[in-house]
Amino acid sequence: MRLSPVSVLLSLPALIYSFVIFPEAEVFQIPNERHTGTLAPKVAITPENIPETISEPLVEITRLSPKYTRLAKQALDAPDDNPLPVVIWHGLGDSADAKGLKEIASLVDEIHPGTYTYLISAVGAAGSADRQASFFGNVTQQLDYVCHALAKDNILRTAPAIDAIGFSQGGQFLRGYVERCGSWAPKVRSLVTFGSQHNGIVEFQKCASTTDWICQGANALLKSSTVWSDFVQSRLVPAQYYRDTNDYENYLEHSNFLADINNERKEKNATYAKNLAALEKFVMVVFDEDKTVIPKESGWFAEVNVTSNSVTKLRDRPIYQEDWIGLKKLDEKGGLDFLGVHGEHMHLLDSDLKALFEKYFGPAGKKFVPQQWKLEL
Ligand SMILES: *[C@@H]1O[C@H](CO)[C@@H](O)[C@H](O)[C@H]1NC(C)=O
Ligand SMILES: *[C@@H]1O[C@H](CO)[C@@H](O)[C@H](O)[C@H]1NC(C)=O
Ligand SMILES: *[C@@H]1O[C@H](CO)[C@@H](O)[C@H](O)[C@H]1NC(C)=O
Repeated sequence: MRLSPVSVLLSLPALIYSFVIFPEAEVFQIPNERHTGTLAPKVAITPENIPETISEPLVEITRLSPKYTRLAKQALDAPDDNPLPVVIWHGLGDSADAKGLKEIASLVDEIHPGTYTYLISAVGAAGSADRQASFFGNVTQQLDYVCHALAKDNILRTAPAIDAIGFSQGGQFLRGYVERCGSWAPKVRSLVTFGSQHNGIVEFQKCASTTDWICQGANALLKSSTVWSDFVQSRLVPAQYYRDTNDYENYLEHSNFLADINNERKEKNATYAKNLAALEKFVMVVFDEDKTVIPKESGWFAEVNVTSNSVTKLRDRPIYQEDWIGLKKLDEKGGLDFLGVHGEHMHLLDSDLKALFEKYFGPAGKKFVPQQWKLEL
């Protein structure tokens, strides 16, 4: 049997040796945009058909040209073709068993067949209890529950890592998951957030209907007391990511969730920064006509002065420059992507979703192109 130059001995944990052979043309091909450099082994040799020359790779990787070496290493690092599981955390007023979320889950499976998807409920129950928990509860406690729930799931717990989708407030909660959950909880590889409120909101959402009692109740709670009371901060979910730069002292003192996970207080938690910087990709998608999230730029971690309407982009802010939560480190390794799509809050096209799933999810061994990738705008 004639071996092509890059023939490499793989040592797998189970002590099974397998041999991968790449036709030279394949190796030299620069991976195209849609396949992000995942080089699938063309011929996998099993213990039954190990060639005699196995102990003698013809050319050592280190003697190859840098490009060759890089691609060969990528291939070596990509022995696992199974797609990572995907967890999805829904937004305000939704529930884990909603039809739309199930459709998103099947779309993921369509792009990466065999993907295990898990719809997150903050209370371990779907339906109205979960919907209610999207309005009411202490986010710290909900998050703690989710860390444990994911750690108990047999598939998530044994996967090498998981990918995550957060819709609206589910986006900053999943970021909280990445920062706060211990190393015993499933580790996230790619986190994709859609129209999230990473830098908070300055206005609360209006209820879509006057007969939506849960939503009306939430707004009534807000009217009954100041947003900064412990009473509201421990009960009303959106209050826990309310952030007003013109009332910053109160925010710093009383915010039950956002001021903490954004490490805005004097005492910074270094674990948060370390954990967030360990993501492979953190993708923030903003809807250019979002009228639900005010300000919409919060989805890119920008700060908006609502009086002057001036926008300070993330890279110009201290949270980034002093790297309070690891975003700078993540950016420097090419792990931070700012994307925009046309439309109102959560108006997503299947085609955009598919492109994103293709780009950021999939095989465990997938390698990412370390540069920004623009979907639109
Ligand atoms: C920092 O966060 C981690 C993870 O949530 C937590 O275990 C630790 O107690 C926190 N440290 C401080 C100083 O608050
Ligand atoms: C929310 O729950 C956490 C954990 O139980 C607790 O430490 C915190 O004080 C609660 N927040 C408020 C505002 O009561
Ligand atoms: C926001 O802009 C107004 C008007 O320019 C300015 O007076 C105010 O200090 C700014 N607020 C903050 C927090 O920078």
